[in-house]
Amino acid sequence: MEFSKINTPQRVKVALLGCGTVGGGVIRLLRDNAEHLAARVGAELEIAHVLVRDTSKQRVPECLPGWLTTDPEVVLNDPSVDVVLELMGGEHPAKSLVERALESGKGVVSANKFLLAKHGPALIARAAQRGVDLAFEASVGGGIPVIRTLRDSLTSDWVSSIHALLNGTCNYILTRMRQEGLPFESILADAQRLGYAEADPALDVDGHDAAQKLVVLAMLAFGAELVGEVHTEGIRDLDETDFRFAERFGFTIKHLAVGIDRGEQLELRVHPALVPQANPLASIHGVLNGVFIHGRALGPCLLVGRGAGEMPTAVSVVADLVDVARARVEGASGLATRAIRTKKKQLMPLGELEARYYLRFDVRDEPGVLGTIASELGKHNISVEQMVQEGRGSPGATVPVLMITHRSREAAVDAALSAVAKAGFLARKPRLLRIEEF
Ligand SMILES: NC(=O)c1ccc[n+]([C@@H]2O[C@H](COP(=O)([O-])OP(=O)(O)OC[C@H]3O[C@@H](n4cnc5c(N)ncnc54)[C@H](OP(=O)(O)O)[C@@H]3O)[C@@H](O)[C@H]2O)c1
Repeated sequence: MEFSKINTPQRVKVALLGCGTVGGGVIRLLRDNAEHLAARVGAELEIAHVLVRDTSKQRVPECLPGWLTTDPEVVLNDPSVDVVLELMGGEHPAKSLVERALESGKGVVSANKFLLAKHGPALIARAAQRGVDLAFEASVGGGIPVIRTLRDSLTSDWVSSIHALLNGTCNYILTRMRQEGLPFESILADAQRLGYAEADPALDVDGHDAAQKLVVLAMLAFGAELVGEVHTEGIRDLDETDFRFAERFGFTIKHLAVGIDRGEQLELRVHPALVPQANPLASIHGVLNGVFIHGRALGPCLLVGRGAGEMPTAVSVVADLVDVARARVEGASGLATRAIRTKKKQLMPLGELEARYYLRFDVRDEPGVLGTIASELGKHNISVEQMVQEGRGSPGATVPVLMITHRSREAAVDAALSAVAKAGFLARKPRLLRIEEF
């Protein structure tokens, strides 16, 4: 059904900032589900403008050429626009456009994790002050309703921890490395060919994308406005040996985003980790994302789904649009956003973490090596639960020595590894992977 044929008493005018992957999906969904959406909102949703950089680029066929503009003032100075959908990404000019839209009393929906991670609390405060809504379901987990779950569904409880797979590219690469035993670079190249990884994969495979999303989740789950940087590690260094031994010890390797409420402090970190094979996150494969939330009263809750892509992400953006538009129609703008409260929280130093560790030493195969490693670990009060030394090579060849420690403090493990590194028999830096049991 065409928008113009719907017989509803009111219209809510919508402007899109950006019409790329997500914007195209949003326009398509608004078109395909127009009647159903109008019934939910209590008014017809009508696109007024679509801001892009280049009007000559090919767009989804549902995007009418008359909507396109390259001038943000056309959108911001149009008083009839009720809701702005920020689907352009990045910090500038997205931040100032969102700020101006909020100032002029428009509701805003954003899919921009970078913007929300860096400026979320300030933008939320600005929206609340102005009595309008800022909604951002699509900024984390694509089509998975995790923001709404934390903001609304769990508002009656305290979230004690989150363990999440927030980057589909990392999960895809690690899944295939485990299944096929191939090196990181060859799976990455394949993922790029298949469209599961960007031409510049750094944001994903070095962990920054997941770290930004974790900051957004922490803002809602723990009411946190962070002071400090989330400890972030990527997946480039992992290899077939790590997967083989993780399996042998009963684990699988996942790229995890971890958030734990530690009272006055927050434990937030993003890194590859060993997860027990029986843990539900261990069986979330490929590009899927998963968010395992633990609430004090609720207990465990697992959300799984497609964390990116045109239509899953559009589903989240349009769901936000429906909420923001309906609030305007019913004269309740800003209520949902005003309920989000944040306060400054310090991050727990990583050295204070206590966990079991997987340690890997690639050593020259010579007498005394194992004794030196054991002695340095012992000096730092680290006891070893399991150890494997892979078959002996020719004299002087490099062989891996793998260990699982008992629970230890990370600062002590770091100190022991530095001492071992000075002994001169390592072929490369020791590998430390945290074991996550939750
Ligand atoms: N793609 C996903 O699966 C996904 C999932 C979740 C969240 N997100 C988030 O959604 C947002 C959009 O992602 P996307 O993948 O749709 O990006 P995209 O395909 O690169 O599209 C970006 C759009 O914004 C427009 N744009 C960018 N800078 C502009 C500027 N300065 N002035 C005017 N227009 C500008 C571009 O115009 P032109 O087309 O003319 O270049 C393009 O239409 C990002 O914040 C992203 O992190 C994406």
